[in-house]
Amino acid sequence: MTLIHFKTNYLKKFVHSQELEQMRALTQAANEELRQGTGAGHDFRGWLDLPVDYDQAEFKRIQTAAAKIQADSDVLICIGIGGSYLGAQAAIEFLQSSFPLPSKLPKVVFCGNSLSGSYLHDLIEWLGERDFSLNVISKSGTTTETSIAFRILKRLLVKKYGEQAAAKRIYATTDRAKGALKTEAKAAGYETFVIPDDLGGRFSVLSAVGLLPIAVAGGDIKALMHGAAEARQDYAELSLSDSPYEYAVMRNILYRKGYTTELLDNFEPKLRMLGEWWKQLMGESEGKDEKGIFPASANLTTDLHSLGQYIQQGRRNLMETMLWVKQPSEDQLIPEDAENLDQLNFLAGKTMNYVNRQAFQGVVLAHTDGGVPVMTLELPDTTAKTLGYLIYFFELAVGISGYLNGINPFNQPGVEAYKRNMFGLLGKPGYENLHEDLQRRLQH
Ligand code: PA5
Repeated sequence: MTLIHFKTNYLKKFVHSQELEQMRALTQAANEELRQGTGAGHDFRGWLDLPVDYDQAEFKRIQTAAAKIQADSDVLICIGIGGSYLGAQAAIEFLQSSFPLPSKLPKVVFCGNSLSGSYLHDLIEWLGERDFSLNVISKSGTTTETSIAFRILKRLLVKKYGEQAAAKRIYATTDRAKGALKTEAKAAGYETFVIPDDLGGRFSVLSAVGLLPIAVAGGDIKALMHGAAEARQDYAELSLSDSPYEYAVMRNILYRKGYTTELLDNFEPKLRMLGEWWKQLMGESEGKDEKGIFPASANLTTDLHSLGQYIQQGRRNLMETMLWVKQPSEDQLIPEDAENLDQLNFLAGKTMNYVNRQAFQGVVLAHTDGGVPVMTLELPDTTAKTLGYLIYFFELAVGISGYLNGINPFNQPGVEAYKRNMFGLLGKPGYENLHEDLQRRLQH
């Protein structure tokens, strides 16, 4: 019995059973490529065994560092972009109250994920006199957004605590051996954590990249790893029902029929950032060689009042995967009202989660009727164990899905194009020719 349930019962009019059968051999081949390391990008499959094969000594150091940050900081500022922050922010949002009460635990905030000076200014203003630590996260150690924010915040930290004490408040999560951040961390004596070589950024949430911020925020990182380990065990064998394999196959069948955009929907605001993490996982893994499903997300029922019209009746290239949480962390009872002016007494005594479930079911049916293939993924709750399980579910699904679509799901060559242009425009040494070329093009 698996912890989460992937259901396709609303796909009948979009996918026929023989189509699933026809994908069996291809899925078998994709799974072998993935498991045996014969597929493209095979050096980046560390996430497959990470839930059981991780550095235990480092895990303890993460717990110790988290306890130190909890003791000496009101705020942990995580500096990173893409895979170096999305998973941590998604996990913290998933696990915490939507309105955390002021507590003894530090507030974990994120920056270095844009080039906005006003964002960083506002963060520094808000920080005020609070005690803080920095967790700078970058696999390459040279990402511009991250490096700029780190340089500015490091200066603030040194001003507040002095050079030596500041160094003890900086935690660098980066490559084991190379990169500018690693070099600086070594020279300045920062505590460092490793992003393993065989882990791409978007697959790194269960490494120190995600674990340190999650632990500082009070998340149960042991349970998170246990959940992922359980998924690893449950999905060790290929099965085309209620599994990441089935999810990968269904979305590929649909993609080949012209459903080129997939929306990941949730019905819980705590899952909003999970959608952002998932978009990177899917988009960066699959969008290459001029193909791939475009990943988008919607927060329901909120977005039914904005995107709902398009989903119901717009261009028919959408498929949806709806996340449903069976037992949300809390609920609210709808009270009886003697006057009933709002005419809601027919719901009195019901819970908001009950109403939300009717909305979920109503949306599934409406969108199916509107020509949108809907898949559902039911989570039992929003605990750390479930989240770990879900993370592994999606990672495995995208690995299989990428191979089914004939691409390397583990590289991201396209991410470099804007960086080169930005360096060219900024006049970075070594980019002089590109600088002139781009300036010429911009003037036309
Ligand atoms: O998934 C990826 O590899 C990217 O999105 C990276 O996470 C992102 O570009 C940040 O890179 P880095 O961790 O090297 O700073």
